[in-house]
Amino acid sequence: MRIGLDLVSVESVNASIAAHGPRYLHRTYTEQELSECAGQPHRLAARFAAKEAAMKALDRGDEALPWTSIAVHSEPSGRPTLHLSGAAAELARKRGIARLECSLTHDGGFGAAVVVALPAGDASV
Ligand SMILES: CC(C)(COP(=O)(O)OP(=O)(O)OC[C@H]1O[C@@H](n2cnc3c(N)ncnc32)[C@H](O)[C@@H]1OP(=O)(O)O)[C@@H](O)C(=O)NCCC(=O)NCCS
Repeated sequence: MRIGLDLVSVESVNASIAAHGPRYLHRTYTEQELSECAGQPHRLAARFAAKEAAMKALDRGDEALPWTSIAVHSEPSGRPTLHLSGAAAELARKRGIARLECSLTHDGGFGAAVVVALPAGDASV
């Protein structure tokens, strides 16, 4: 099992939006993330933290992963789920990781996330 943790300031997200607008938003977040978090930069900060935490848990190394290949979706209960596609899904397969779980928080101008990567074949989870 591997874990990743990351912290992102809402200010940095707002600064990126101000500087690069839609280009930043669409290069970093999926359409579903953008629609679930519209007008809520603190929630985007937590999702950006989740992407970086996932890269730590995946032990990215030199692999280039598009930000949108790691996405956080919200269940109706509010529980976040982490979804990999493309290069991130491929890296997870290479690392023997079956699934990732995440938990998010945002407060005091920061968003944070912890991600746990669970190995394939672990019957205990
Ligand atoms: C789930 C809960 C613990 C979140 O607490 P919180 O302090 O408001 O949450 P934070 O601000 O730290 O974090 C928010 C994130 O929690 C996550 N979250 C929300 N609901 C969740 C759930 N059911 N399960 C897991 N994570 C959840 C989300 O990712 C959310 O961020 P997002 O909206 O950007 O996706 C809270 O909503 C809750 O259910 N509390 C229980 C209250 C209760 O039962 N009280 C009984 C006393 S009588």
